Amino acid sequence: MSSDAQTTRDDAVEAAMLARLEAGEMFEDIDELSPRYKEILRQTAEIASISEVSVLTWACTAYPTAPDIGAKIAVCATILDEVGHAYHQGILAEQFGVDVHSRAFKDDIKFIWTWPIMEVPIRNYIEFVVMQSMLDRAGLHWTKDLELHCSYAPYRRTLRKVNFEEGFHMRHGNFWTEFYWNHSEETRAMVQRSIDWIFPFGVMWFGKPDNLKTRPEQLKYKVRGWGNDFMREKWLQSSCAFLKKLGADFPAEFDEETKKWRITMPYPMKYDAENYAWSQEQCTHDEYWQHSRKGGPMRPGAYERLRREEWGDKLW
Ligand SMILES: [Fe+2]
Ligand SMILES: [Fe+2]
Repeated sequence: MSSDAQTTRDDAVEAAMLARLEAGEMFEDIDELSPRYKEILRQTAEIASISEVSVLTWACTAYPTAPDIGAKIAVCATILDEVGHAYHQGILAEQFGVDVHSRAFKDDIKFIWTWPIMEVPIRNYIEFVVMQSMLDRAGLHWTKDLELHCSYAPYRRTLRKVNFEEGFHMRHGNFWTEFYWNHSEETRAMVQRSIDWIFPFGVMWFGKPDNLKTRPEQLKYKVRGWGNDFMREKWLQSSCAFLKKLGADFPAEFDEETKKWRITMPYPMKYDAENYAWSQEQCTHDEYWQHSRKGGPMRPGAYERLRREEWGDKLW
């Protein structure tokens, strides 16, 4: 087929698909999708599956800090769940031509993308449960959107089990955060320190604000239904309600007029991964994401270790 004929054919597929999307239809068959839509889905599934792999190396750092056998089992169960998330989303990504095994285990480590906090070692078990409470909550909003709204139906089904487990991680985190908050003065102070460190990562979880977003086509093709701002807002209201009930300090205040929480921290600001601290000085979104691309102290060591498949020996 000449390239002109191919373009005409692609345009026709695109127009037919957009009309069906507009009518609220979902797609079951990969061959019904236009090349552009396929590309958006490929990027979404690739990022999701590779970032689940990075959760493994991060959660592993919690294991030695877990105080008893129950907590150690909880960390191991979380790791197993995350292996499953990487696997299920990886199978989906492979349908779109991604070689997940190469991406995770062979390609240059500098191409592994993840949320920056996944490359900062966990200092203690309290930090782990606060992260579950705050950041599995964030992850859940991110993937719940796909389960509820993705116009490619197999992706929705893939995420059902993933989201069930993310919800469980979050509730596990809530339960133990509350437990340690009430346990002793020392553990309460540790919960507070963990919140100070982790809360801003939740704010930053959802990427750039919608007006600066680099992948607006996710919404156009109804791969997603919620924009970044909407998800961030949902996470904020839900996290603040939890932290308020706890009685903790966090950088947000309740606006009586709108009946909503709004952040009081500089947004965005840079983190200092070596010292587990935030600059408290506003920077631009570009500066923040450039900063985050440097990764944390676990890069590249944690990925190299994953590739050497030393998991089993070190875990027990
Ligand atoms: Fe996950
Ligand atoms: Fe999780």
